[in-house]
Amino acid sequence: MAARSVTVNRLLLKLARASGWVLLGLVLLFVVTGYALSGQYGCDRVIEPQQALTIHRIFDWPLLAFFFAHAASVIYFALRRWGVVPNEKKKAARVGRALGGSAQ
Ligand code: HEM
Repeated sequence: MAARSVTVNRLLLKLARASGWVLLGLVLLFVVTGYALSGQYGCDRVIEPQQALTIHRIFDWPLLAFFFAHAASVIYFALRRWGVVPNEKKKAARVGRALGGSAQ
């Protein structure tokens, strides 16, 4: 049971980090295409507004999906850190200290 939760947590950490990088790319794409649509900062010279709108529409749901995957996974880890969600690793360390384990 504990081994499975370690694997799940490792996968969740990978999800949190990978989705962060994908999000960074998607957000940059939305910023550039958004400015192209509004004709600001010369972005409409980099990409045509019609093309920018198509990109906005195609990548709309991936942006939302990656945002929720990233936010949910990092919030889960924050809740574990704060002790709201039970944390077996912290509990084991506490028990170890209580039994006189060394700090190293
Ligand atoms: C569009 C918005 C966002 C972008 C582009 C973004 C991007 C990133 C990137 C690139 C990383 C680094 C991943 C790595 O270490 O390899 C990261 C990590 C992180 N992000 Fe975000 N993020 C966004 C939104 C959020 C939100 C809304 C939250 C909080 C709810 C959040 C909390 C965190 C935390 C706590 C980490 C550290 C995860 C860890 O390695 O333990 N981020 N994010």
